[in-house]
Amino acid sequence: MALADALRHIDDQRRTHVDQLGEFVRIPSISAGADTDARGNLIRAADFLVGQFGQIGFAAEKVQVSADTNPLVLARSPDFSPDRPTVLIYGHYDVQGVDNPRAAWEVDPFAAVERDGLLIARGASDNKGPTFAHMKAAEAVLAVGDRLPVDLVFLVEGEEECGSKAIGQFVAEGGLDEFAPLLCTVISDTSMYGPDRPSLTLGLRGIVYAEVEVHGPKQDVHSGLFGGIVQNPNQLLVDALAGLVGGDGQITVPGFYDGLAPLSAREKALYAALEVDEAAYCRELGVAALAGERQYPLLERRWTRPTLDINFLSGGSPRTVIPAVARAAISCRLVPGQDPARVQAALEAHIRSRIPSAIGVEFKNQHISPAYYLDLDHPLVEPTLKAIRTGFELEPVLTREGGSIPIVVDIAAHTQAPVLLVGLGQITDNWHGPNERFSLHDFHRGTRTAAALFYELGQGS
Ligand code: BES
Ligand code: ZN
Repeated sequence: MALADALRHIDDQRRTHVDQLGEFVRIPSISAGADTDARGNLIRAADFLVGQFGQIGFAAEKVQVSADTNPLVLARSPDFSPDRPTVLIYGHYDVQGVDNPRAAWEVDPFAAVERDGLLIARGASDNKGPTFAHMKAAEAVLAVGDRLPVDLVFLVEGEEECGSKAIGQFVAEGGLDEFAPLLCTVISDTSMYGPDRPSLTLGLRGIVYAEVEVHGPKQDVHSGLFGGIVQNPNQLLVDALAGLVGGDGQITVPGFYDGLAPLSAREKALYAALEVDEAAYCRELGVAALAGERQYPLLERRWTRPTLDINFLSGGSPRTVIPAVARAAISCRLVPGQDPARVQAALEAHIRSRIPSAIGVEFKNQHISPAYYLDLDHPLVEPTLKAIRTGFELEPVLTREGGSIPIVVDIAAHTQAPVLLVGLGQITDNWHGPNERFSLHDFHRGTRTAAALFYELGQGS
């Protein structure tokens, strides 16, 4: 049987695949953070992928959507055929910076250090390793002389960590239309429920992000000379933000919860059955106790309830001044049913209503994206779980996640096809932090899963 041959090939090539992934993570393709002087490295990473695809017979090209964006890598499997379904695989080759802080890295972030079965490197888990797993799975099928059971299109971007501009434009302008109809999109840019707990993620939260500026005197002024006669933007901003989230975790912005779809009893039961160690969360986070809407279980709070957080606050300086400007960044995570444009408008109106109208208030850098959700009963759920069982030799679990991948929603909307989120990372992989890591065992089992999934998805045709 062809799948068995491909799986054996993946088992045999385990060391080679790790070495090649090492080559990929050695390219410091940073697109976000202070040290982004990496345009050449981003292009090198894209070229590396084009080269890898070329070696296995894929038609691969760099797509330059506009002059100032990082290239997309678009690769299609050999011998596209109308009698096979087409599957899109998305990933990203760009990585976060390493100044978070640099001194906290125990190893060179771009030396591909292996330790205790982990690859410790920036981008190993987010998202080079998981993307590479799909590539190596396709390679294995072709290497054992089989036809791919589905036509594959890889779309790997280089701007996930800085706004996904090029891919956003590519999808919006119909760049995927030539592949219609797609059976589905597969993405490994989420996490597993835990070690040895592979998962299919049914949902992601959406996001409303905004930065607020409150303006005061034209420059910082002495608080002894002018205190008492001039409005203090720090005071106005903290007054406006105070109480947006009550002590009970309830969000007080009028209209915030409008439309929110209730969690089905079936899904609730699924998450209630997952083991949760609250003390372990506290240890991992370094907090004495967890907070939020205590009436909801921890996983529902992380995955299925909306949130509002103040991500950043600044204004003035630790001197006796009244500052010229106070700034905050706020983000809300949204769940199915909430309309991001309405939440954005409600948040802005509410904050403005709490600041005197004579004061200058600006909202900047706003972006929004709705939640993503795949129905529990979708016909591709079972084949995906079966592929995970084959790849990991473990029973998978269904989860949601609290993070957001805006392009997922765009891809799902444009292709009218489901997105299967099969994450290979762990929440302890330190994405965006120091000493990012990726389990090489999960890389291997994830590669097997990807191969098994190609065969499962090919079954229906
Ligand atoms: N891979 C993450 C998204 C993610 C995080 C999925 C946690 C599942 C769990 C992605 O790289 C990311 O960080 N996304 C941002 C998007 C935002 C800036 C629009 C996020 O969620 O904050
Ligand atoms: Zn990321």
